[in-house]
Amino acid sequence: YPFWAQQTAPETPREATGRIVCANCHLAQKPAEIEIPHSVLPDSVFEAVVKIPYDPTSQQVLGDGSKGGLNVGAVLMLPDGFKIAPPDRIPEEMQEKLGGVYFQSYKEGQDNVVIVGPLPGDQYKEIVFPVLAPDPSQNKGIHFGKYAVHLGANRGRGQVYPTGEPSNNNAFKASTAGTISQISKTEAGGYEVTITSEAGPVVENIPAGPELIVSEGQAIEVGQFLTSNPNVGGFGQKETEVVLQNPGRIKGLVLFLGGIMLCQILLVIKKKQVETVQAAEMNF
Ligand code: HEM
Repeated sequence: YPFWAQQTAPETPREATGRIVCANCHLAQKPAEIEIPHSVLPDSVFEAVVKIPYDPTSQQVLGDGSKGGLNVGAVLMLPDGFKIAPPDRIPEEMQEKLGGVYFQSYKEGQDNVVIVGPLPGDQYKEIVFPVLAPDPSQNKGIHFGKYAVHLGANRGRGQVYPTGEPSNNNAFKASTAGTISQISKTEAGGYEVTITSEAGPVVENIPAGPELIVSEGQAIEVGQFLTSNPNVGGFGQKETEVVLQNPGRIKGLVLFLGGIMLCQILLVIKKKQVETVQAAEMNF
């Protein structure tokens, strides 16, 4: 869950290597997309659309071993000074797309890093973030320019708990080589698989959820899978850029292009005039 990322990495969700920390526990990789305007004007509100695609018919194992739908969540790292727009700045048509999503700052006082989720995946495969761009004329620490935006987005349950324990949303492996001497079902719905090797019996505890793919009497290698992999979810990250555009620059560019066009037209007219004079002189 995003709050486990806050707990395990309280400063920033992005490691020095560029990896977003959700990946430490959500081990499977799945795509994530972000759509954001190429450039935005100061003090304007725009949409950042996060897409977390997955097959809507897929079901995952839940904590108790039963099957259920997937939830989604995301962390969006905006450039310094950018933040979620206050409600009175969000236009009505954008408001409709937001739904009831609650946006939370990753760290208190750091409004440009935002987390959402868990949210029901069937409604939120697409999450709209209403973003307010900063105004460099109001805040001396903010400058016009091009900045990086980082997204981490997840669907489905993770594989590791903050304690380091594996979740039941994993494929379980044999910790030793040997022969499976006994398989018994536990009360909770899982299995106890006893592997007998030369060193004696070893019991592998498998929680309810993953399906057993071995049988009694079977010889197995160390590291061989005892169960199928029930995981259907995964985490993805994406990098993009946004330009905080100075409106003065655009005005300057338009004037400059207009000036060039005018010069070109005047040159053509001048050339026509010279040609007319030359043609007239030839007749004398
Ligand atoms: C569950 C997102 C970080 C471990 C979930 C779920 C979401 C999510 C949406 C619910 C999935 C579902 O019910 O279908 C995220 C995001 C993270 C993040 C966006 C980063 C910002 C972490 C971290 C850990 C972790 C750092 C480990 C320390 C888990 C586990 C579950 C889970 C074990 C399953 C919990 C259960 O149902 O028993 N996460 N997560 N997640 N997450 Fe994360």
